[in-house]
Amino acid sequence: MLDQLGQLEKEALAALETVEDTEGMNAWNRRYLGKKGALPPLLRSVRELPKEERPAFGQAANEVKTHLETALEARAEALRQQEIQRDLEREALDVTLPGRPIGPGHLHITTKTLRQIYAIFAEMGFQVYESPDVETDEMNFELLNMPPHHPARDMWDTFWISDELLLRTHTSPGQIRVMREYCPEPIRVILPGKCYRYEQITARSEHQFYQVEGLAVGHGITMADLVSTLTEFARRFYGPERQVRIRGSYFPFTEPSIEVDMDCILCAGQGCRVCRYSGWLEIAGAGMVHPVVLANGGYDPDEWSGFAFGPGVERPAMLKYGIDDIRLFYSNDLRFLRQF
Ligand code: DAH
Repeated sequence: MLDQLGQLEKEALAALETVEDTEGMNAWNRRYLGKKGALPPLLRSVRELPKEERPAFGQAANEVKTHLETALEARAEALRQQEIQRDLEREALDVTLPGRPIGPGHLHITTKTLRQIYAIFAEMGFQVYESPDVETDEMNFELLNMPPHHPARDMWDTFWISDELLLRTHTSPGQIRVMREYCPEPIRVILPGKCYRYEQITARSEHQFYQVEGLAVGHGITMADLVSTLTEFARRFYGPERQVRIRGSYFPFTEPSIEVDMDCILCAGQGCRVCRYSGWLEIAGAGMVHPVVLANGGYDPDEWSGFAFGPGVERPAMLKYGIDDIRLFYSNDLRFLRQF
């Protein structure tokens, strides 16, 4: 019987070697160790042995049982490891492959243009003043000499947030804020920022765009200062040969009001599609700060005077770089943005 036991052990161990998966292990377990397997009847047959042989056989049988159980566990572990190894090989990542390079990026054309404008005005002594995008009706219209129902409000299509609040339609409300902060000091600032208008989007108009308002307040400031400041700006921004002309215009917050044009940079005044064959391009609305506006800012109009102007940012950039559609600025097409 001991022989039988030894035989069984050998056979079982050999069979275990050929087991390749869980199913095979379950079958092996049933065949040798399970209730209806080969080992239990052998264990039970101890009863048939003479008494003195029983302890030795019992011990041997238990050893075989333990041995087989341990072998099964070891085999299961070996198969698990093999499985992991296979998965690792199948899903292997080559960590030595070069990554996809992330470009360093660069400033947006609007940011670059704004910075050029800041630099030019900084040299003329203007500092940058920031004012909020969400404005009150009072700042955006009333204090700029446009009481409720004033027809000039129709010049600005407006995004209203409430009856009182709106997205500023121009940077001009910053004039009131800056005057109220600096009064009674003289002022020389530019007020850059985004403006919003409830408008049809076309190649020439966006419903969000930038302006750079300018404001100078002091003693004895005249229209000559305004025209020379804008002429200097045009020559530094667009080129030293630029000519500037002024036309009478109307804005509620300036008196007199002007429109500043420069000769067309594409045709040098000869007339082309861009200047609509006039030879001139409009660069900014401007004027002498209206006495009512000065007073609203805290300055006595009998003692103080000032000029203001309000060019855009995208349109100057379009002229300078020959861009024919304003929508390109904010449609995030890298093919466009990478060119600047
Ligand atoms: N705020 C005007 C606009 O958005 C532009 C403007 C015109 C600004 C004349 C000024 C100015 O400061 O004096 O249409």
